[in-house]
Amino acid sequence: MAFWKPGTIAPGSAVDRDTENETDTAVVAHAEQQYRHLTLKQQRERLPVFKLRRELLYSVETYQTTIVIGQTGSGKTTQIPQYLEEAGWAGKGKQIACTQPRRIAATSVSQRVADEKNVKLGAEVGYLIRFDDQTSSKTRIKYMTDGMLFRETMIDPLLTNYDVIMIDEAHERSLYTDILLGVLKKIQRKRPDLHVIISSATLDAETFYKFFNHNQTKDQTKDTANIISLEGRMYPVDTLYVDEPVADYVETSIQTVFDIHMQEPRGDILIFLTGRDEIDRVVSEIYDRSKTLPKNSLHIDPLPLYAGLTLQDQLRVFEPTPRDTRKVIVSTNIAEASVTLEGIVYVIDCGFVKIRAYNPKTGMEALVVTPISKASALQRAGRAGRVRAGKSFRLYTENTYNTLKDTSIPEIQRTNLAPVILQLKALGIDNVLRFDFLTAPPAALMIRSLELLYSLKALDDVGRLTIPLGMQLAEFPVDPMLGKILLSSGDFHCSQEIVTIAAMVSVQNIFIQPSKKMDKMALLDIRRQFWVEEGDHLSLLNVYNGFVQNGKSSGKWCHDRLLNFKALARAIRIRQQLVKYLKRFDVPLVSAMDGTRLDQDLQRATASERIRKCLVSGYFSQAARAEPDGSGRFRTIRDGVLLNVHPDSVLFNRNPTCVIFHEVVETNKPYMRDLTTIDETWLAELAPHFYQYQTTEKK
Ligand code: CDP
Ligand code: MG
Repeated sequence: MAFWKPGTIAPGSAVDRDTENETDTAVVAHAEQQYRHLTLKQQRERLPVFKLRRELLYSVETYQTTIVIGQTGSGKTTQIPQYLEEAGWAGKGKQIACTQPRRIAATSVSQRVADEKNVKLGAEVGYLIRFDDQTSSKTRIKYMTDGMLFRETMIDPLLTNYDVIMIDEAHERSLYTDILLGVLKKIQRKRPDLHVIISSATLDAETFYKFFNHNQTKDQTKDTANIISLEGRMYPVDTLYVDEPVADYVETSIQTVFDIHMQEPRGDILIFLTGRDEIDRVVSEIYDRSKTLPKNSLHIDPLPLYAGLTLQDQLRVFEPTPRDTRKVIVSTNIAEASVTLEGIVYVIDCGFVKIRAYNPKTGMEALVVTPISKASALQRAGRAGRVRAGKSFRLYTENTYNTLKDTSIPEIQRTNLAPVILQLKALGIDNVLRFDFLTAPPAALMIRSLELLYSLKALDDVGRLTIPLGMQLAEFPVDPMLGKILLSSGDFHCSQEIVTIAAMVSVQNIFIQPSKKMDKMALLDIRRQFWVEEGDHLSLLNVYNGFVQNGKSSGKWCHDRLLNFKALARAIRIRQQLVKYLKRFDVPLVSAMDGTRLDQDLQRATASERIRKCLVSGYFSQAARAEPDGSGRFRTIRDGVLLNVHPDSVLFNRNPTCVIFHEVVETNKPYMRDLTTIDETWLAELAPHFYQYQTTEKK
C-alpha cells in the first residue's frame, strides 16, 4: 500500500528513449512485445487455457455444464470455441455460440478468431449483434451479444441450432446473461444433448455451480456441473492511493499520466473513466500536453476506447506499441474484463463507472455515474499485472476504498425489466415472478415494469401478452416504448418520419464534440441549422434528411457540420432494418408530409403535431412539466421528480412548458436527453390508463 500526490513530479525527468536503464522488468516487457512476432499458432499455444485443453474438452463432453474461471487474457473467449470445433463439435449443421454482454467484444473477438483460423470473418467464424449479422450458412463459431441469443429463443425455444453454448463474461452479470442462464437451465431439462459453458473472470464459480448442478444427491459422481480453473499468469500489482480526495478526477488522471511518464520505466498506461465525453477530453489534453515533453523522451500516444467507436478505431488499441512510444489507453469499463489489452503496466482508476439504473419509485431509467465495487477495483488493478509487475494508481483514498461495496449489483436488480418481461411472456413464461432467476429482481422493479407494459397495451387485464400488439412488441428488437411509437406510426400517418427518428435515437454520438478551442457561437451556428423549436427528435429528423439529401457522403458535408459520418451511416442501416419490421407488421409506410392539398404552413404544422403525438403514444410515461418558478427545471408529471434539460438539447434555455424525453442521464444532476415539446392534454388523450392511475394511486 502506498500513497502519492498527483502532479508533484517536475517535468524534465522523463524516461529517456535511447539511454533507458533497462531493468529486468522492462526486459520482460520487451520480450512480451516480441511474442507478437510469433506465429498465431505459437501465440495460441502460449495461453494458459492451452494446458487445460484436454481437461476442458473432457468436461464439456461429460457434464452438461462446465464453469471456466480464468483471468482476463487467459484465452477463454478466443480459444475455447476453437477447441470445441477442432474436437468435432458444431458438426451436422449445428453451431457453437459464444455470448458477450458487449457488442465491441463480439466484433473484435470474432475478427481475432477468424484471423487465427485464417478464414474470412462471416464464413466459419462470424458475429451477430443487433442490426448487424456477419454470419452465413458456413458459420460454425458464432460470437453474439447475449441479448441476441435470448432473442433467438423466441424463434427457436430450445435453441436447436447449437450443440454448445458458451455464456462468456458471466461475472459481469448483465441483464441478458442472467436471463439466459435461467432459460438455459430450463432448456437443459429438455435437451440433454445441449452443453453449456459458463465463463467468468472472477472467482464466483460457486453461484453458477449451485445453479446448474441438477444433482440432488450427495454423490458427486452424479454432478451435472463441473468447475475448471485456469491458472492465471499474474504478476504482483502495487496499489497506490491518493492521500486526500481529488477535486476533479479527470484532471488528476491527466496529471498522473505525466507523473508516470516522467518517473516510471516504459510500459503502457490504461485509464478507467466513465464515459465518452471525459475520454475525449483526456485524450486531447494528453495529446496537447505531450508536445511539451523533452525531445528525447518516449512519445505518448493517447487512444480512446469506448463502445461507440468504429471497429477500425477499436482495433488501434490492440496494435503493438512501437519501441519509442508509450501508449495511453483511455477507456470506459469496457477494458475491465471484456477486452484484452497487451502491454499494460500502469492502471489509473477513477473509481467510478457509468451504469444504467432504473428507479422503481420514479419509473425512470437513468445513466448514472456511481462508485465501483471492490471487486471492480481489484479487476481494474489486475489489468496492470499481465505483462510484468505493475502499478495501479487509484484516484481515491484508501478510506473511500473501504466504503465500496464488495461486488457490483447485477443489472437485473437495477434495470427496467419491461423488454425482458415481454420476451419471457412471448416464450410462454407467463408467471415471470416465478422464473428461475440466478438472483431475483426486486418486486417493486417487476411491478413497475408490468404496469408500463399494461399502459402500453402490451399486456391485457390478466397480464397476458396482447395479440397482435404485445406479440409484435416482443418481437421488435427495440425498447417497448420505441416499439410502440413505431407500430402506431401508421395510424398517425407519419411512419416515414418516425422510423427515421427511431433509427437516430438508437445510434450514439451523431454529433462530434468540437475541440475546446472552438468558439461557442460558431458551434451554435453550425448546430442551429438543423434545429426546430419542437425539440430534438424533429431536429434529428432534419439531420438525417440533410445527410440523405446530400448523397450520404462522408466528406466535407459531415465534417463542416460536425456530424459523425459513421454514426449516420449506422442510422441508415438501422432504419432499413426497422422498415423491414414495419412491413412485416403491416404498418403502412407513409410520410406526414403527404396529402398535398393542404397549404404548406398548415401541412407542416399538422405534420409536426402528428409526429409528436405519435411520440407521446409511446413515451407518455416520460413526460415532464416546467416548474412555475422559472428555474428552467422540470418535474415529471406522474411522479414529481425534478429534472433538468441537457445542455446539448435544442430546448436548453428555451423554456418549453411540457415535454417528453427519451432518456435521463445523471452526472452531477439528472438531465433529460432528446426532448420534444408536447401539449399536455395529449397525455390524457393518448395514455388515459397511465394518468388515471395517478389520481387513484396518490390517495
Ligand atoms: O477471454 P480471455 O480474457 O480469457 O482471453 P482472450 O480474449 O481469449 O484473449 C487471449 C489472447 O488473445 C490475449 O491475451 C491476446 O494476446 C490475444 N487477443 C488479441 O491479440 N486480439 C484480440 N482482439 C483478442 C485477443
Ligand atoms: Mg474473454
